[in-house]
Amino acid sequence: MDKLVINGGNTLHGKIDISGAKNAALAIVPAAILTCDVCRIENIPNISDVSIMFRILSELGASVRPIDANTVEIDSRNVQFFTVPYELTKHLRASYYFIGALLGRFGKARVAMPGGCNFGGVRPIDQHVKGFELLGSKVTIEENAIVNAVSDQLIGSAIYLDTVSVGATINIMLAAARAKGLTVIENAAKEPHIVDLANFLNTMGADIRGAGTDVIKIHGVSELHGCTYSIIPDQIEAGTYMVAAAAAGGDVLINNVIPKHLESITAKLVECGVEVEEFDESILIKSDGRPRHCNVKTMPHPGFPTDMQPQIAVLLSIAEGTSIINESVWDSRFRYVEQLTHMGASIKVDGKMAVIQGVEHLKGAPVKADDLRAGAAMVIAGLVASGTTEVENVVYIDRGYEDIVGKLRSVGADIQRVPIVDPDTRVRVS
Ligand code: EPZ
Repeated sequence: MDKLVINGGNTLHGKIDISGAKNAALAIVPAAILTCDVCRIENIPNISDVSIMFRILSELGASVRPIDANTVEIDSRNVQFFTVPYELTKHLRASYYFIGALLGRFGKARVAMPGGCNFGGVRPIDQHVKGFELLGSKVTIEENAIVNAVSDQLIGSAIYLDTVSVGATINIMLAAARAKGLTVIENAAKEPHIVDLANFLNTMGADIRGAGTDVIKIHGVSELHGCTYSIIPDQIEAGTYMVAAAAAGGDVLINNVIPKHLESITAKLVECGVEVEEFDESILIKSDGRPRHCNVKTMPHPGFPTDMQPQIAVLLSIAEGTSIINESVWDSRFRYVEQLTHMGASIKVDGKMAVIQGVEHLKGAPVKADDLRAGAAMVIAGLVASGTTEVENVVYIDRGYEDIVGKLRSVGADIQRVPIVDPDTRVRVS
C-alpha cells in the first residue's frame, strides 16, 4: 500500500492535461462485446477501474490488446462465457454493465451484484432490472447475489425510469441497441458519458437518438460492427483540478476539456470569486485569495455533479462566511467530513445537508480516503493546509485519477507517493 505525502501552501502554476472520462470508459469497454469486430478505443484513462473491466472482458474470452497507455483494441468475437463472479464485480459498481452488454449480444448474463463506493445504504439496481424485464428478459437473483438475466429475443419497449439513473440508462442502452424494434427511455440521465456511449454505439452502427436529453430513442439493429473511437475528456477529473487551483491559489490552465461539460462547476467557482476563462478546449483558473462562500445543491446533469461534492466542500471550508451543501443524489456522501474536521474544518452534517463555517487555514494531518472522490478532496485539503498531510487508502484515488501525483507536481505541488512500511519489520505493507 502507498500513501500520499503533501506539504501544503504552494500556489499552483502551469498546465494540466485531462485524461479520458472514467465513467464513459466504464460504459464503452463492455459495449465492445456487442460486436464480433475489433473496436479500437483511444484516450482511455490509465486507471485501475478500467484495468478491472479489461480483466473481466478477458475472463469472458475477449482479446484486449493494449496499443499504448491510453489506446486499446478489443476483439470480442471469441467471447464464450456469460458469468462474471463476485471476485471481479466486488471491485467496482460499473461491472454490472456486463449484464446489459451480454444480454444485448447473447440473450443471457450471470453477473454478481457489484461492489463500489459506499454512500450509505444499499445502491439499488431496481431500475436496471425494470428495464431488462420491459425488454422481455427474465431476471432472477440467485444465490451468491448473482443477477441472472435471460431472453430468447429482446423486444424494444417504452421504459420510464422512476428515478434519474446513470447506470440504469447505460445498462438499458446496452441491452436495447440490438433488440427488435424501438426502445424509448424516458426520464433518462443526461450526463456527458451517456452521450459518449450513444456516440460510440452509433459509430458501431447503432441507431440511438436523443442522448443528452431525458428521452432517448433506440431503434434496435441486428448487427453492430467494429470502430475506432476516442473517449471524451473527464468532466470530474477536470473539475477536481479546477477546484484544486481555486483552493491553492495561482493560475492553472486545465487542458483537453469540453468547457460545456464544466458549466455548473465554472458557475460555482465564479460565484466564489474565482477567475475562470474559457477557451475552445481548455479552462484557465486564476485565484489569489480566500474564496467567497456559496451554497451548492448536487443534481443530475446539467446540475452541479455529486462527484464534485467532496472537492467543493474543501474550497468552501476555507471560504469567507458560511456555505451550505445539499447532497440530493446519494443518501450519505459526507463521510469524508470527519477527516476534514481533523484538519481544522468547521462543518456540521445533518442528513443530506452540510453547513460549512469557513476557516482561515486548514492544518496538515494524517487522513484517509473513504472513497474515490473523498480521496481527491483529501488531496486538495493537503495542498491548501499548512504543514504536512498524509493521505492513506490511495488505492481509492487510483481508481479514477490517472497520475494525480505527476499532474499536481507539474504545476508546483509538493506531493509524493511513498510506500507504507511496517514499523517493526520494515517491510512494505501490501
Ligand atoms: C454513476 O453511478 C457514477 N458511477 C457515480 O460516480 C455517480 O455518483 C452517479 O452516477 C451519479 O452521477 C459511474 O458512472 C461508474 P445512479 P450510478 O444510478 O450509476 C438511485 C464516481 O465517483 N438508483 O445515477 O450507480 C441511486 O440509489 C462515481 O465516479 C435507484 O434508486 O448512479 C441514487 O440515489 C461514484 N435505483 C440515484 O439513483 C437504481 O436502479 C442515482 O444513482 C439505480 C439508481
